[in-house]
Amino acid sequence: MSDSPKSQNGIEIFQDHEMSEVSKDFFFDGMVLPVPVYLKMGPQSYLVIGKKNDKAQFSGLHAYNNPNVVIFVQQVDQPILIAYVTQITGKIVNQKSVPDVTKVKFLTSLTSDAVSSLEKSNFTSIAKIQKVAQLVQQLSPRLNAFDQLVGILSDLHPAESKHSMTTCFISILLSDEMHMNQPAVQEKLILGSLLHDVGMKYVPKSIMEKARHNWSAEELHIYEQHPLKGADMLREIKEIPQDVLLIIAEHHENANSTGFPKKMRDVKVSPLARIVSLANYFANLIFGSVAASKTYSPDEAIQYIEAIQGQPFNKQTFLALKNIINKQHLASKSS
Ligand SMILES: [Fe+2]
Ligand SMILES: [Fe+2]
Repeated sequence: MSDSPKSQNGIEIFQDHEMSEVSKDFFFDGMVLPVPVYLKMGPQSYLVIGKKNDKAQFSGLHAYNNPNVVIFVQQVDQPILIAYVTQITGKIVNQKSVPDVTKVKFLTSLTSDAVSSLEKSNFTSIAKIQKVAQLVQQLSPRLNAFDQLVGILSDLHPAESKHSMTTCFISILLSDEMHMNQPAVQEKLILGSLLHDVGMKYVPKSIMEKARHNWSAEELHIYEQHPLKGADMLREIKEIPQDVLLIIAEHHENANSTGFPKKMRDVKVSPLARIVSLANYFANLIFGSVAASKTYSPDEAIQYIEAIQGQPFNKQTFLALKNIINKQHLASKSS
């Protein structure tokens, strides 16, 4: 975190591109601020409303309550704020009688993290990414299984909850591109993609810490059962629809029967699982995964899937992914 060059009466001068707008949902009275927080007063002019390590006391602040007023932090501080809010709200969410506002706050921190990861990847336009974030934030609290969803997500390792959210964003972008954007469809996609890896809970850490080529046949078998274990685990929750259980059970199946655990053919795989299967794989390639820390650009990821993997995914879904990337190339060229 850098100090601002000039400061007068609490007003600091920053280049506007060095500042990031953040959701008011991130803050609650009494929280210790991990970074300084500002209100924008005019071009390059920011009023400090909370310093680092201050206890936040914003709710009584007239300007804070004005819906048109937005809160800013320095761009370099944004990931620190997001990680902090995810961590503290994640801990709170699993306690009894947690108000919905805290659950929403937790979800907002996860979506903001996905927004910044996807923006950096230059996978698609910022406007589209923001639209997906809004959709996820609006639809999720309306889900019948919202409480269970937030409880499960907050129990995951931060890297896993982050992976779940980026997989969710890519799934929604693919469904938009394929005109499968009816709210009922997207609600199922959100729930299924956010929960797709819950079965990883049953895969011992000792397996995941080893390189894949060192797994024994038995270890491979245990890993490959995680989609079914996940679906079994959630089957008892009546608020979770059947289509969502199919997404979870089939998120590693491929179109050419080379997936797992059932090696299904494309026609047998549920339509929403085809989307999450590709979104999950692509998210791992561009953002890295526990198994592979190497990351690819969106173009390299497409090449990898085609040349190395022989494009095992559903054709229409893969075409939609390529279309999203090509549109972004065209938009970047014309701007
Ligand atoms: Fe998985
Ligand atoms: Fe995954």
